[in-house]
Amino acid sequence: MKQEIERLREEIREHEYHYYVENAPTISDQEFDALMHQLIKLEAENPDCFDPNSPTQRVGSDLALSDFEQVEHRYPMLSLGNTYSEGEVRDWYSRVCKDLGVVNDSQLVEVVCELKFDGTSISLWYEDGDLVRAVTRGDGVRGDDVTRNVRTIKNIPLKLIQNNISQFSTLNSHNVEFRGEILLPWKEFERLNAERERNEEPLFANPRNAASGTLKLQNSRTVAKRNLIAQVYGVLGVEQNTHSDSLQWAKALGMPVSDTTRVCKSIDEVMEFIAYWNDERKNLPVATDGIVLKVNSLNQQKNLGFTAKSPRWAIAYKFQAERALTRLNSVSYQVGRTGAITPVANLEPVQLSGTIVKRASLHNADIIAGLDLHIGDMVYVEKGGEIIPKITEVDNSQRQEGAERVIFIDKCPECGTELVRVEGEAAHYCPNEISCPPQQKGKIEHFVSRKAMNIDGLGSETIAMLYDRGLIHDVADLYTLTVGKLARMERLGEKSAQNIVDAVKKSCEVPFERVLFALGIRYVGETVAKKLASAFGSMQALSVAKREELTAVDEIGERIADSLILYFDDMRNMQLVERLQGFGVKMEGRVARAELSNKLDGLTIVISGTFEHHSRDEYKVMIEAHGGKNGSGVTSKTSLLLAGANMGPAKLEKAEKLGVKIISETEFLEMLNA
Ligand code: IVH
Repeated sequence: MKQEIERLREEIREHEYHYYVENAPTISDQEFDALMHQLIKLEAENPDCFDPNSPTQRVGSDLALSDFEQVEHRYPMLSLGNTYSEGEVRDWYSRVCKDLGVVNDSQLVEVVCELKFDGTSISLWYEDGDLVRAVTRGDGVRGDDVTRNVRTIKNIPLKLIQNNISQFSTLNSHNVEFRGEILLPWKEFERLNAERERNEEPLFANPRNAASGTLKLQNSRTVAKRNLIAQVYGVLGVEQNTHSDSLQWAKALGMPVSDTTRVCKSIDEVMEFIAYWNDERKNLPVATDGIVLKVNSLNQQKNLGFTAKSPRWAIAYKFQAERALTRLNSVSYQVGRTGAITPVANLEPVQLSGTIVKRASLHNADIIAGLDLHIGDMVYVEKGGEIIPKITEVDNSQRQEGAERVIFIDKCPECGTELVRVEGEAAHYCPNEISCPPQQKGKIEHFVSRKAMNIDGLGSETIAMLYDRGLIHDVADLYTLTVGKLARMERLGEKSAQNIVDAVKKSCEVPFERVLFALGIRYVGETVAKKLASAFGSMQALSVAKREELTAVDEIGERIADSLILYFDDMRNMQLVERLQGFGVKMEGRVARAELSNKLDGLTIVISGTFEHHSRDEYKVMIEAHGGKNGSGVTSKTSLLLAGANMGPAKLEKAEKLGVKIISETEFLEMLNA
């Protein structure tokens, strides 16, 4: 049976390829559906043959699947103790000397100073000189096997320089592991974000997020284009006398080891290193967030050992976030697509971490009040993890007499409508969804975006131009555009006009769940839209659904339900939906779900620990595919706790206390087989 299932999967994959990749299907939709149904049936009858990569699973789950194999680390990937203070660095050194029974600063405890690279950690395994595996940190015990992506990183050798292995002849086996950091250089980070901005994709907040996001991409070709680099800072499975020797050895084998590393013989030398890089780091091509100090002698490291979380022989000194002092000139208010008002501080331009800062986010009225901001105040700006800097402090001593306090506006700056603030929420909103220009333009931008109706050729500038000239007032008007009307606009040639009209027409093929998402109903994101589409099947059914019917749907809470009711209660929205339907936009269709069985119907299952037969992600998909629900923590509502090896004692204790049934991996698989 396994063979038959595999054969079917292969056949379906081929058809998918013809359909999705080549755009040239070789069978009809009905024939394809029949094959898929046959596979769903066979998989349901044979849970043993479960495969997260089966075509049935493609549409089956909203879980963010890693799709990378989970691998146990040979040595756990620990973290480091942190400090922001030089005093604490000295204390650490004194403690180390004391523990080793050495007089402080007698030059008997060497410390290696390294830059703390701000990317994502990686473990690189080599066997007989070949790169065999690259694994992310994960939870420190197990990580994702990202070898296929790491192979694209050009400064990571796929083969070690063999003759240097024998030259140093200290490899205690043919296996060696390197630890390091994967980084996206500043230049590449800026290039990538500029490209994402052009494509209207969300920006990465910092190079660290960009590097870890890139490493988890499914398509290694895209990874290759991003130009990640690696820096190696540790070697395991090799016998040397000192850490600096093992780094040198790694370098001789072709590993990228930073030449900024320095061996210091006293704590004062360490302090010099810190002081130097505190400034100089701004000129580095990659992001760093501190200095790592490591006892050099491996023997001394062994004697010092580890605490529960980190080695006693190392510590990280973190750099203070850079900040700049500048004047607050004014505060302006932006109106977003959903009507949310964002206050923005306009500043006297100031240099900060390599860029000139002119604006800072003020987030909401509470933040403004908390800072007690006055126009003309001297304020400190900092770049945190976000793209836009924020004001962290006001220098009250420099406030001018009679300075005007910043009071949050009460009317929309675009349409004059009285603003509202939903209880319990920090943001103010302009409730005039229908005719507040930025809201309407934003709605149209969202409607045409890739994940919604995917209408190419309509960037935000074109939309603004069409809106300002009165050619479109809402999303339905897009379907009334003609080549003649469009070509009259400056900057739009006949060809672009034709492309836009074609793209609008093609959007009538977009499935219902994406249409629902495209409408931009508050709190209805992609996942919620999918859930609603599969539960109600049509806009008509959804628009008349009662509050209880809405909240009965998995993961639809009262907030979403109220937002939907409010939307469909407004005649103008109903008219818009009707017009869209009139133009041929899809208003019905259920999301296909690969339901394998209903054996777990009504059960909420919590997974804990590590497993032998399938990964945790695979079990999560299996639970949903058999009608169950995944729970995140053990509560009185938990029906079962699926327990693997190394399960946290707290979860076990809680389950026992609440009388939640605990089952093993084998029992779970038997349950599905029954
Ligand atoms: S040593 C057991 N050295 O910082 C200690 N880590 O919490 C192993 N990092 O995410 C880490 N530069 O990936 C070490 N020169 C360096 C480092 C470094 C960056 C990262 C590491 C981990 C975190 C340590």
